[in-house]
Amino acid sequence: MELLNQINKDKLPTHIAVIMDGNGRWGKQNGKSRIDGHYAGVKSVQNIVEGAGELGIKYLTLYAFSTENWNRPQDEISALFELLVKTIASETNELIKKNVVLKVIGNVTSLTQTCQSALTDSIQRTSHNNGLTLILALNYSSKSEIVSAIKNINMDIKNEKIKANAINEQLVNKYLYTHQFPDPELMIRTSGEHRLSNFLLWQLAYAELYFTDVLWPDFRKSHLHQAIIDFQSRERRFGKVSEQLK
Ligand code: FPP
Repeated sequence: MELLNQINKDKLPTHIAVIMDGNGRWGKQNGKSRIDGHYAGVKSVQNIVEGAGELGIKYLTLYAFSTENWNRPQDEISALFELLVKTIASETNELIKKNVVLKVIGNVTSLTQTCQSALTDSIQRTSHNNGLTLILALNYSSKSEIVSAIKNINMDIKNEKIKANAINEQLVNKYLYTHQFPDPELMIRTSGEHRLSNFLLWQLAYAELYFTDVLWPDFRKSHLHQAIIDFQSRERRFGKVSEQLK
């Protein structure tokens, strides 16, 4: 049976998060540069955004640049941001056509003005859509996000906006970059690495983790379908025992 037909449309994950890994290795394996790997990775982004939209997935978060990625060679960083800005500018009409809403999480204010403008423009122009919400994690670090939430909670307590005894999980959620999105139920990481790499540590507390050896530039809709089928075969117990779920 075709993979797509094996997916139960009533049990789709609402939110899928993806660590798009393996662009550099893909470049090397194909006799090209790491940067060529990132360019090839954009094709996968287009394909997966389309695939998620077709399935009716509500939220898709893509880890596009971590705060740790600043440690890469400067020419790769520059090429990545050039690619990002170019892609956002050239793809916004396509996002509108596909009814996609663009959002960003991360420390965006320290990105270049060019990058911020491209993002703001695309976010604004796609804000009237109501299909898939595509969230780009850019200059993102989960630990920084949590530290910033703690600082802001502390400030609001000092300013008597909230009371210290009001702190609970829901309140902490409100102070995270992701406050307007539900937590991902499925996290996919490509390229055979089995790590979270400082990605959505709080939000992935109960996510199903799916790892594949496929390098990101080779990842296509069929691989997404495979990950969702695998997700649907798992029993999500949330601390209960199997019998309680029946
Ligand atoms: C990880 O592969 C990938 C990245 C750090 C960048 C991801 C960026 C893109 C796919 C392109 C731009 C994205 C958008 C949303 C337009 P790696 O370089 O760490 O690969 P390696 O582990 O093989 O070195």
